[in-house]
Amino acid sequence: MRRLDQLLANLGYCSRREARAWIQEGRVAVRGKIADDFGAKADPGDVRVDGAPLDHPAGLLLMMHKPVGLVCSHDEREGPNVYSLLPPRWRARNPQVTSIGRLDKDTSGLLLLTDRSELVHRLTSPKHKVPKIYRATVGADLAPTLVPLFASGTLLLQGEKTPCAPAELRIIAPRAAELTLTEGRYHQVRRMFASQGAEVLTLHRTRFGHLELGDLPAGQWRELPPDTFQP
Ligand code: URA
Repeated sequence: MRRLDQLLANLGYCSRREARAWIQEGRVAVRGKIADDFGAKADPGDVRVDGAPLDHPAGLLLMMHKPVGLVCSHDEREGPNVYSLLPPRWRARNPQVTSIGRLDKDTSGLLLLTDRSELVHRLTSPKHKVPKIYRATVGADLAPTLVPLFASGTLLLQGEKTPCAPAELRIIAPRAAELTLTEGRYHQVRRMFASQGAEVLTLHRTRFGHLELGDLPAGQWRELPPDTFQP
């Protein structure tokens, strides 16, 4: 049960002040009856605005094909972000829609977005070891010795005290590979290859846990069933 004015504001419809005006104007109904008390508590499933049920009152979970050139930060100073691709109402929600982990500005591929903070914590926690698959092209031929090195759990990146967790490398062409990581350190894929003298030229994430990007076009997103990541 949530206060009506708060509910509308948190779901991105309008400000709390505007919500109070909407209620006074008779635009909001609870269980089929026009609401007149903006402080009254209601079950989100019982509320209608202009006759329509509330927009995803239980939360959003989206899979996006992040294009190159957008950042995952909400800070406008860091440049255009992935949230600009979402409907304005979703961008105004509180808790805000955020990415589950991040992809660099120059990385494309599978990005999950949600306003369910429990999911963000669970899926980004190193404890849960969710596998993520990246496809990289690099600026130098890849030595087969990288496969056991990345798998060894001993690769220490510059400035870090703990080695990278074992990662599975599959070399698919002299300068292209697929890398499966179960952790998500800052610029991890780029830094792992760079530590071995191979600059990453392009980077694309194809999988996150059991989810595959498939043929979702760049810049598009689709909704995922709320129970996609049942504990
Ligand atoms: N590793 C990187 O270097 N960049 C990403 O965006 C993701 C993983």
